[in-house]
Amino acid sequence: MSNGFSTSRMRRLRKNASLRTLFQETEFKLSDLILPIFVEEEVSDFGVIEAMPGVLRIPESRLAAEIERYARAGIRAVMTFGISHHKDDVGSDSWREDGLVARMARTCKQAVPEMVVMSDTCFCEYTSHGHCGVLHGDTVHNDATLVNIGLQAVAAARAGADMIAPSAMMDGQVQAIRNALDAAGFVDTGIMAYSTKFASALYGPFREAAGSQLKGDRKTYQMDPMNRREAVRESLLDEQEGADALMVKPAGAYLDIIRDVREASRLPLAAYQVSGEYAMIKFAAAAGAIDEARVVRESLGAIKRAGADLILSYFAMDIATEGV
Ligand code: PBG
Ligand code: ZN
Repeated sequence: MSNGFSTSRMRRLRKNASLRTLFQETEFKLSDLILPIFVEEEVSDFGVIEAMPGVLRIPESRLAAEIERYARAGIRAVMTFGISHHKDDVGSDSWREDGLVARMARTCKQAVPEMVVMSDTCFCEYTSHGHCGVLHGDTVHNDATLVNIGLQAVAAARAGADMIAPSAMMDGQVQAIRNALDAAGFVDTGIMAYSTKFASALYGPFREAAGSQLKGDRKTYQMDPMNRREAVRESLLDEQEGADALMVKPAGAYLDIIRDVREASRLPLAAYQVSGEYAMIKFAAAAGAIDEARVVRESLGAIKRAGADLILSYFAMDIATEGV
């Protein structure tokens, strides 16, 4: 029955599940996901993180077995974060040949050589003050930090890390790392820059997870969440400095930025669904307010739809094991 005028009947393609699947525009796959992991040295038990239910700190002695378990579940990439018991003023353990950063990379690659190992490259987990670099007075000294970040990148590369992922938000860090890697002969080690990283309150649970000592904030080096043009500049600078892939972090509240960077660059783009995003979903689900599995898929799908190629997510193992 015609009603006499032409109507766009959007519901035709929504009539049943087969049609909906056929016409779905965006899909995320397990192989798009990178699992961030926390590895603690000098402990023998898994550690509970109150603010991140379901995520555990892995004792270093169990790391190899965990990596094997992730690989069996279909995880292809991890991002390593160390929980150090050897903190000092500058974070020197992070560039020691036998420091935690190097040992994590070595252990992961030995356990599962085909696992892509990305080494989070920063100092806040290794400094006694918790800042992401060398403190001069009460500010983080940019260029002094660049020297050390090159050392850490080379130590991680030598230990077998596939990708260096600098997250310190120092100006020039990508170029410093590229130069240091090339000079040491690691021309094939890639750089996935945390290129647009905001000073976000959504990192709260991570700071508990990582045992951060930080007092104050990171607003002199991480970006103001309200700045959209600057966000694109940040990523484009990292591209010019030689990054192989870019990243926007956090993800869910920054979909406009993901889209902007996607359109401004042809590099692969990652987005980091951070600890606070994870916690919001977990606690809302525990309270019975939302359906966890559906919200997880919706949140990851939306991040892809915005333009991310890769997603770092603490839900990666849930997706792998339960198909969540
Ligand atoms: C440290 C770092 C942080 C995260 C990744 N690397 C915290 C911060 O910048 O304070 C956050 C990850 C998360 O919240 O899941 N450079
Ligand atoms: Zn840091």
